[in-house]
Amino acid sequence: MELIDTHCHLTFEQLADDVQAVVTRSIAAGVVGWLTVGTDPQQNRKAIELADKFENMYASVGIHPHDAKDLTADTLTELKELAQSEKVVAIGETGLDFHYNLSPQPDQKRAFVAQLTIAKQLNLPVIIHCREAFDQTMEILDRHGHGLKAVVFHCFSGSAEQAKIVLDYGFYISFTGVVTFKNAELTRRAAKIVPADRLMLETDCPYMSPEPMRKQKINEPALMIHTAKYLAELKGMDLADFANAVTATSKTFFGLP
Ligand code: NI
Repeated sequence: MELIDTHCHLTFEQLADDVQAVVTRSIAAGVVGWLTVGTDPQQNRKAIELADKFENMYASVGIHPHDAKDLTADTLTELKELAQSEKVVAIGETGLDFHYNLSPQPDQKRAFVAQLTIAKQLNLPVIIHCREAFDQTMEILDRHGHGLKAVVFHCFSGSAEQAKIVLDYGFYISFTGVVTFKNAELTRRAAKIVPADRLMLETDCPYMSPEPMRKQKINEPALMIHTAKYLAELKGMDLADFANAVTATSKTFFGLP
């Protein structure tokens, strides 16, 4: 089995000190590729540095909605430069988070639109973070999303109805270990309607270890195998067939070899 963790934060302090061990455990578990996702200027630089050190590790660069308030013209210029590094395969994560509102909503919207523009200019796919802002996110994508190479809603936690809207736009959906949680019935219903050729897997580690490992405080890519098993069973698919299908989807989406 050769799974790809399409959204992890290996540069975050919980994991950064021992990435070699994290990678070794991941490969042993069948998770053999990683996309370490940038969230602010410092993390973007670290993500590229790290990806440069490992085979099958890639990076994305973006400004998380939490950090949108700090976005300047210089930050955007640097983001665009970094996005042209060899190992960078996507813009993000970007989007709207109206749950925490750590940045004012107008700042979040401005940063989101600016990053969509860069993604279009460089023909890179976009990783969307959307929390309690589904309608507003779709409105921005409706207005500014034309000409984007590809779009994925990461850590999807919406309803089946929302998943259908996302799929109707031609976008992709990726699931974390959250789908294995007892109280995630809504997310499970959404996962059932997402076909494997539009579905990707991720850990979003160091956060949110999947069941039955939820007690492991620091999540890591090796644990993604539990999410893969869970979703294969939910969809009534053989694990190997499901894994092959979502890996093919991930490679196509991010243009990986
Ligand atoms: Ni993330």
